[in-house]
Amino acid sequence: MACCGCNDNGNVAVKDVDKLDQILSKYEGVKGSLISILQDVQGLYEYLPIEALNYVSEVTGIKLAKIYGVATFYTQFRLDPVGKHVILLCQGTACHVNGSKAIEEAICEELEINEGETTKDGLFTLTNVACLGCCSLSPVMMIDGEVYGKLTPKKTREILKTIRAEEE
Ligand code: FES
Repeated sequence: MACCGCNDNGNVAVKDVDKLDQILSKYEGVKGSLISILQDVQGLYEYLPIEALNYVSEVTGIKLAKIYGVATFYTQFRLDPVGKHVILLCQGTACHVNGSKAIEEAICEELEINEGETTKDGLFTLTNVACLGCCSLSPVMMIDGEVYGKLTPKKTREILKTIRAEEE
C-alpha cells in the first residue's frame, strides 16, 4: 500500500481492511459516491483515520486532497477518534442567552481541550450542538444521553470530575 500518512508510531496499517474493501466494492464504479463512502468508513471506525483515507484514495483513484477536502468541509465527518464520553454542549439561543459560552470555557479549561477536541486520555470529546430541545433547563449539555441542565461553570466542573472519578 502506498502511504504518505505515517503517524507518530510509524504504524500505517489499515485496520479492518476487509470491511473497508467491502465498502469500496459496494461503491465501485458509482459516480459521486465519495460522501457515501466516507459515511460508511466513519460508520466502520467512528471517525476517519488518515490511513483509511489513504487507502480509499489508492483504491478509488480519487486524489487524497479531494477526499480530505470533503472530509473537512462537512461537519458530520470527524478526523479524530471520539472520546468515551461525548459532551454535547447546546449553543442554541436560550442556552446562549443563559451563559453557554461560560460553560464552554469551564469545560475547555477543566479538560484542557478546545471545542471539537478529545482529551489526551480519550475520555471526553466536546462538541457544540444546536438546541437540544430542553430550553427551559438552559444552559444545557448532554453526556452519554443524559441531560444536565441549569448549568453553572462550577456545577459543570463537578459533573466532569464525577465522571472522571468513576473511570478511575
Ligand atoms: S437552546 Fe439549548 S436546549 Fe434549546
